[in-house]
Amino acid sequence: METATSLQQIQSSYIREILSAASDENVISLAGGLPDQATFPTHLMAPTLKKLADMPEVFQYEQTAGYAPLLRFLSDEFSLPENHEALVCTGSQQGLDLLARAYINPGDPIVMESPSYLGAMQVFGLVQANILTVSQTEGGPDLAELEQHFAASAPKLFYAVPDFHNPTGVCWSAKTRKKVAALCIQYQVTLVEDAPYRDLRFSGETLPYVSQYCPDLAIVLRSFSKTVSPGMRLGVVTGKADFIQPMIKVKQGADLHTSVPMQALLLGLLQHEDFPDHLTQMRQLYRSRYQILSAQLQTQLPEGCTLNTVDGGMFVWLKLPECDPFKLATQLLTQGVAVVPSPVFYPPGSTEIKPALRLNFTNSTPEELTKAVSCLAETLSQYPGRK
Ligand SMILES: Cc1ncc(COP(=O)(O)O)c(C=O)c1O
Repeated sequence: METATSLQQIQSSYIREILSAASDENVISLAGGLPDQATFPTHLMAPTLKKLADMPEVFQYEQTAGYAPLLRFLSDEFSLPENHEALVCTGSQQGLDLLARAYINPGDPIVMESPSYLGAMQVFGLVQANILTVSQTEGGPDLAELEQHFAASAPKLFYAVPDFHNPTGVCWSAKTRKKVAALCIQYQVTLVEDAPYRDLRFSGETLPYVSQYCPDLAIVLRSFSKTVSPGMRLGVVTGKADFIQPMIKVKQGADLHTSVPMQALLLGLLQHEDFPDHLTQMRQLYRSRYQILSAQLQTQLPEGCTLNTVDGGMFVWLKLPECDPFKLATQLLTQGVAVVPSPVFYPPGSTEIKPALRLNFTNSTPEELTKAVSCLAETLSQYPGRK
C-alpha cells in the first residue's frame, strides 16, 4: 500500500540510526537527549505506587484533558489565568502533534528557529506546513529576520524553545523575550513556547516565560521527561481554553486520554516533600558533567572549533571549521563515540547549514566524557574533510 504523500516528504530519521548504533555498550553516546537513569526518582514514587493498588478509579477511562486531581495541581502550580486550561499529553511530543493537527493546513506558513528541534520539524512536516526559518543568535532569534517573516508571511505560529534550546543550548535573553512577545502581539502570531529543559537550569537566574508577556497569544508545552522520566511519557500543554479545546478534540480521536495510573503516579511524586531536593540534585549532577565536558573541549580541541557556554539543559553545540559533519559523525562512530551532526537539525532544503555537532552531557560519566573528547580531538585533528 502506498504511504500518504505527507509521509513521503519526511526523511528517514538519521537520528534513529545513530541512536540505535549508540545503544551498543561499547559506544560512548553523546548523541541522545537522555537523562541519566540513576536520577529517576523511583524511591519518591514508591509510596504512590503502593497506594495505586487501592485506587481502582485510576484504572478506569478518564476525561480527555487528564486526571482531574493532576489538572487541578498543575493549574495551581503554573498559576494559570481563569480563561486558561491544561491538557495532559503522552509526552510533550504529543502536544506538538495535536497542535499541528488542530491548527495547520497544508501550505500554512509557520516560523521555527534554525537549527531547530528535529521532532518539531517532523510534526510540522507531516501536516505539510510551509516552514520558514529564523536564524539564532547567542541571545535568541534574530529579531529583524523574525519581524520580516511576521510582516511578509503572516505565519500562523512561531515555534520556539527559549530555554536551553535543543540542539544549541541557547537561552534567550530577557530583552529578546519581551521583544518576541511584543512582535507576536503586534502581528497577531501565536507563540508556541516549548519548555522541556526550563527546569534544568544549573546556573544564572531564571528568566520569565516568553508567554508571560503574551499569555493570551501563546501555547506552552511542558514535559516531565527530562526532570522525572521519559518512559512515563507525560507532558502538559497550557493556554487559553479556546486554544486548548480543539487540541482536546484531536486527542479524543488519537488516544482518548493519557494513561491515568501514570498521571496519578506523577501527581504523588510532584506532591512529595522531597521532590524539590530531587531537582536540586539533578541540576548539580548535570552542572558538574557540563563543566567536565566544557573544560575538556576547551583544552583538547583544535583551533577553529568554538563552544558557547550554557546555563542549563542537556546539550552543547560545538561549532566546527568548514567540514562535512555527517562524515565526521560517521567516522567518530567507528571510533566508538556517537554524536549528532548539525544538518539533521535544519529543515530539508536549508541553505544555511553550519558545520557543528550536538553533544549531550547528561548521560555519560566524567570518564566517558573525557574519553569522548579525546577521541573527538584526535579525529578532528586528522580529519581529511577539514580545510
Ligand atoms: C525541544 C523538545 N521538545 C519536545 C520534546 C519531546 O519531549 P517528550 O515528548 O519526551 O516530553 C523534546 C525531546 O527531546 C525536545 O527536545
